Amino acid sequence: MNAIFNLQRETNKLWPKRKPTTQSLLRSPFFILAISLLTLFLLLFLSISTFQTSKSLFSTQTLNTQKPQCGKFHASAREGEKFLWYAPHSGFSNQLSELKNAAVMARILNRTLVVPPILDHHAVVLGSCPKFRVTAPNEIRASVWNHAVELMKSGRYVSMTDIIDISPLASASLRAIDFRVFAASFCGVDVDSTCANYLKPGSSSSFDILRECGNVQSGIEGNIGGCLYAVKEDCRTTVWTYENGDDGELDSFQPDEQLKKKKRISYVRKRRDVHKTLGPGSEAGSAIVLAFGSLFSAPYKGSESYIDIQKVKNSEFLPFVPEILNAGKKFASGRIKDPFLCAQLRLLDGQFKNHWKATFQGLRQKLGSLNQGDDQPVNIFVMTDLPRGDWSGTYLGELASIEKRFKLHFLREEDRLVAETARQLGKRGSRGNLHCPHQKSLDVLLYIEESVCSCASLGFVGTAGSTIAESIELMRKSDVCSILNRTAR
Ligand SMILES: *[C@@H]1O[C@H](CO)[C@@H](O)[C@H](O)[C@H]1NC(C)=O
Ligand SMILES: *[C@@H]1O[C@H](CO)[C@@H](O)[C@H](O)[C@H]1NC(C)=O
Repeated sequence: MNAIFNLQRETNKLWPKRKPTTQSLLRSPFFILAISLLTLFLLLFLSISTFQTSKSLFSTQTLNTQKPQCGKFHASAREGEKFLWYAPHSGFSNQLSELKNAAVMARILNRTLVVPPILDHHAVVLGSCPKFRVTAPNEIRASVWNHAVELMKSGRYVSMTDIIDISPLASASLRAIDFRVFAASFCGVDVDSTCANYLKPGSSSSFDILRECGNVQSGIEGNIGGCLYAVKEDCRTTVWTYENGDDGELDSFQPDEQLKKKKRISYVRKRRDVHKTLGPGSEAGSAIVLAFGSLFSAPYKGSESYIDIQKVKNSEFLPFVPEILNAGKKFASGRIKDPFLCAQLRLLDGQFKNHWKATFQGLRQKLGSLNQGDDQPVNIFVMTDLPRGDWSGTYLGELASIEKRFKLHFLREEDRLVAETARQLGKRGSRGNLHCPHQKSLDVLLYIEESVCSCASLGFVGTAGSTIAESIELMRKSDVCSILNRTAR
């Protein structure tokens, strides 16, 4: 192509010099050469564009009419690379615990982990394992896929690894790929066309293709030999174990007789070795993509609800990315300055509405136990979902009014520190994730607040039963605040 352009430029330069008549021009051998080159070029151009059209037509048709082949993944599959994707649910902390479980599964099965985006808080629900009322794997996969496409379309797609640093896992031989990159390649769409602001004509159909492709990927149309294996087992029938010698045995927790009768449940919960069932040599083992449903698990009545693997229990702590941790530390040392206590008070969401008394009681006790020998007020960093305007008449209102004894600190969405951190994260295109040009600003307030609390030297008071409190406890146990200097870049 370059050669042809150069030739044309030179030709243009030559013609005016000679100032030839039309007659002589037509007869000149140079003209004939130029014409034939131009024709050749035109023909070449035409054939390339028809080829491209037919290629894209072809891939759309395969989607519509036949089961898709494994797309581009056939190429990488030749090198033996296989993938694992799963469907997380609920709030951020749940999604994080599922990411850890998925990482363990991916390592056991030697598969590249497909890292999902952060889902909106109530966008996908699982239900209750102990009550045997859960969303089936096919359905939850389809919901997550569709929600992910919606996030792309509205410019709100944020990968879990934009917020969470999985490099501790990468050093332990975990391979990972962003869901957006995975889905685009698998469904045969250009990954740039998954940006909300993509302006090329006909680009809206990228989302249609992705959505349709999701039906296939969710396993709704069944497994595809060699390409996709959609796991049907969920927490109603299966507890995954690994090298435990209990493959095929009954789990200690089974639906009780009353539930069986009432719901006409016929489930029996068995313990299955995940490597034996889904690893090399099995039908699932040969598929390029292995799709789990939810990978949520919790202890229940002496058993685990879905995954009972020692490695999961010991799985590494995954910190926030350094940008977020540093913002937290900056607020703690720069704005609060003195030693402080962190109070995480969840008062409005769901069950927490009914437990104000217990939640405030914990804080009251903690403050009572703090030695207040000197005249300095106690610094308290407060993170709560109760708006400031609604504090009067609550213990928080009381604390705020005794300024001599307590100094309350908060972080707000509009704080420059929050906006600056979001901007830094949005700008950074590393870690294999695509950052679209007009990405909506990331919502990072909660993560920075948690980081501030990890630095609270006077202690931490959380809300019982809140996953946010658990997450902060874990950060404090792992001493994130003091290891910050090492990870900061
Ligand atoms: C794990 O998968 C990679 C390909 O992604 C392959 O090269 C490697 O040999 C596999 N390891 C084992 C132990 O099978
Ligand atoms: C981290 O860096 C700050 C100054 O930037 C220093 O005061 C502090 O002692 C360092 N902490 C550790 C654990 O190295």
